Amino acid sequence: MPKRYLVTSGLPYSNGRPHVGHVAGALLPADTYTRYLRACGHDAIYVCGSDDNGVAIEIRALQDGRTPQQISTHYHERQKEDLEGLGICFDIYGGTHQPAYRERHERFSRAFFTRIHEKGFFSKRKTRQLYDPQAARFLPDRYVKGICHHCGDHETNGDQCERTGAIIDPLLLKDPISVITGTPAEVRETTHWYLRLNDFEQPLKEWLESKQGQWRPSVLNFALGQIKQGLPERAMTRDIEWGIPVPLDDPDAQGKVLFVWFDAPIGYVSFTAALCAERDADESGYERWWCDPETQIVNFIGEDNTVFHTLIWPAMCMADERFQLASHVVANNFVNFRLGDDTDKVSKSRTPNESPVWIEEYLKRFDPDALRYYLTAIAPETARTAFDPDDFVARINNELVAAFGNFVNRALTFAARYFEGRVPDRAGLTDVDREQRTRAEQAFERVGRNIEGFRFRAAVEELMAFARDCNLYFGNRQPWATRKTDLADCAATIATCIDSIAALALLCSPFMPATTERIFDQLNATDRQVGWRMPESLPSGHVLGTPKILFEKLEEGALR
Ligand code: MF3
Repeated sequence: MPKRYLVTSGLPYSNGRPHVGHVAGALLPADTYTRYLRACGHDAIYVCGSDDNGVAIEIRALQDGRTPQQISTHYHERQKEDLEGLGICFDIYGGTHQPAYRERHERFSRAFFTRIHEKGFFSKRKTRQLYDPQAARFLPDRYVKGICHHCGDHETNGDQCERTGAIIDPLLLKDPISVITGTPAEVRETTHWYLRLNDFEQPLKEWLESKQGQWRPSVLNFALGQIKQGLPERAMTRDIEWGIPVPLDDPDAQGKVLFVWFDAPIGYVSFTAALCAERDADESGYERWWCDPETQIVNFIGEDNTVFHTLIWPAMCMADERFQLASHVVANNFVNFRLGDDTDKVSKSRTPNESPVWIEEYLKRFDPDALRYYLTAIAPETARTAFDPDDFVARINNELVAAFGNFVNRALTFAARYFEGRVPDRAGLTDVDREQRTRAEQAFERVGRNIEGFRFRAAVEELMAFARDCNLYFGNRQPWATRKTDLADCAATIATCIDSIAALALLCSPFMPATTERIFDQLNATDRQVGWRMPESLPSGHVLGTPKILFEKLEEGALR
């Protein structure tokens, strides 16, 4: 039965270029998943966009001597271009502060805040906060750095422990320093609106417990562990300039904006509304996705976003009472970058500008599908993994080139050379050929089951296992010999290979969509079936396209 799905990826901050970590963590698996859902015939949309408000963008603007609007628009455009270049196929890529989306996003965010305020879930409180006297401003979140009060042995910024993702109380940081001037921060008084998360501990707990056995244990354990410790109230307003003004008629709200983590997830909703407005000239269509329990909402995020997607955003939705909670929150770990003996986070300051871990740089020289393949093969589903340029070359050459591409090319070249470029006759099919067909059918089942279980890495392993089986089949059937001794047998072999190639094309479509197109071109197959199953055979006599190398072999050290 076709179902309706809304798929999201955590909105990347528009303060930098996308790199392999962003792609592997939240973007690529969401794209793969959506492509699979569509292949199955479900009604699925993929909603994403840039997270433009807040401290991260303000700091980058300060560092680069530009305005936050300039910075966010610059990076928003680049994100869109790079991600589309990788074949990430959004239905919409909005931006919380981009001209085309800002008005609607602000309207949705204000309404959300006002509603929660009216229902009495905020506490307005005077509080003490770190302040930079030299810059004459408060230092929320990433404006301050200090020694982590959870671990006690490393520096972190003022929003989350950079090691474990635990929430930081900036007043507890040891030796807090202002990021703006580098001088010690002092404490001053200010007023903020706090969401009383503790009011939602019980319903959050019940909701999370209902996901036992479905979600990754690491995600549930983390979230339930936080509830056990007790959820502190969290300020949903900030003393900065860049963002959405606090929509209250209260002198204390003057000059304050909404916390970026308050408005960013509302971006999922406001971008859905923007999509409905674009498609049907009716923004209220978003309700079909957000308010109708028939729609499954699936959030793909990086590990550091877990607190917000399993506790804070769901609590906001519970307070607001209009929108559905996620059916699934899929959190991935980080992908680091390995060079020689060093493994490090990808970062603007430490990673060379022209390194292929930046998507823009990668795309200048290499095949998008090869990166999609590699990042799925090393998907950080249960632990952090590393992008290793040498491992990349080895896996592309051994797997995509030597197994997958080789089989497709061998079989199609054979058909071109000895069967006039047509699908041969199937009259001589034997049990061995029928077994090969069964393997293809099983591959659909295995790959599909793993994608549905959010095990993308295992799914791509099944895909490659089938490609290897195809090569073995070709080798065992020896069409180069039967061509001279038993032409009917040879024809049945090549026809079976062509069926397997069509199967591979469809099986790889969630992972390597451009490869799917290339294969279908070489098969000269224009009708695409809907449905995740073995495709109908091309009829005998069908004229095939021209065989071409599917994946380029990479030189050793090509990505170093
Ligand atoms: N911008 C955040 C980050 O990069 C993610 C925001 S996700 C959303 O960590 F849910 F708030 F949109």
